[in-house]
Amino acid sequence: EMTLEQREFYRERIKEKLQARDAVMVAHYYTDPEIQALAEETGGCVADSLEMARFGKEHPASTLIVAGVRFMGETAKILSPEKRVFMPTLEATCSLDIGCPEDEFAAFCEQHPDRTVVVYANTSAAVKARADWVVTSSIAVELIEYLDQRGEKILWAPDQHLGAYVRDKTGADVLCWDGACIVHEEFKARGVEDLKAAHPGAAVLVHPESPASVVAIADVVGSTSQLIKAATEMPNDTFIVATDKGIFYKMQQLAPEKTFIEAPTAGSGATCRSCAHCPWMAMNGLENTLAVLQDENGCGQEIFVDPDLARRAMVPLDRMLDFGK
Ligand code: 13P
Ligand code: SF4
Repeated sequence: EMTLEQREFYRERIKEKLQARDAVMVAHYYTDPEIQALAEETGGCVADSLEMARFGKEHPASTLIVAGVRFMGETAKILSPEKRVFMPTLEATCSLDIGCPEDEFAAFCEQHPDRTVVVYANTSAAVKARADWVVTSSIAVELIEYLDQRGEKILWAPDQHLGAYVRDKTGADVLCWDGACIVHEEFKARGVEDLKAAHPGAAVLVHPESPASVVAIADVVGSTSQLIKAATEMPNDTFIVATDKGIFYKMQQLAPEKTFIEAPTAGSGATCRSCAHCPWMAMNGLENTLAVLQDENGCGQEIFVDPDLARRAMVPLDRMLDFGK
């Protein structure tokens, strides 16, 4: 554990180095509060995955420091091939990405050539390159609705819970891959019901990577940005939140008078210290951020995407950005 003085030292050095390297931080709401605060204080962004992609592409800085997980860094690089893109650590991955290897996914697509391939942003560049569309949770329902109205049948990957949610909302023909987020799949409907009983005025906010039983008792289902918006705009003074606890930083900042309670997971209680927090998001820290900025080659934590793959993955990613406007 660092002392307060040490933290302040790191924060100041990171600020200097960001300036010196014409770099800007692009952070996700699930990263640790001090990472989010740094991104805010230095003119970067803290956002959901769709907004991160857009911010990185549009920002004039020549270097991006993506504090999040691997697919976010790859997306930034694909959308801005001329920029250098670093992450505090390239080891920060995602169970959805891991659970959808390119070769198996390609075989699945080949078995269903009549379906429009829609993949979640939480995938590798190679999987995106195989897709007709990329989506994030903030536009998933709208996009599937749109494709369904055009009479298209969908092949969806990799998150089965988000896939089931959009199928349920739209009535579209959606065939799902069976991936899951290790953080969200742990939320338990029983525990949320018990909390609701204890806090009758509370609204339940749920990220759609959660199981259907938890989604079913939500007052609002949405992307991280959409849940934060609900937390600020709804009249309730208490919220039960089923998503990564990193999100409490922004919710508390925007609505300091309100109370936010973590939704229970299977392992909740005294024995569980990492519940509701993504272990890969947690890898983004002050020390590795500074180390990457201090070394010309970013300690080897630079994102490279094969240019041919990047060109192919850019097509469905650009569609996502256009559709989300
Ligand atoms: P959002 O797109 O809602 O930010 O969620 C993406 C995600 O799961 C990051 O882990
Ligand atoms: Fe992936 Fe879940 Fe972590 Fe998001 S929270 S990066 S979906 S494992």
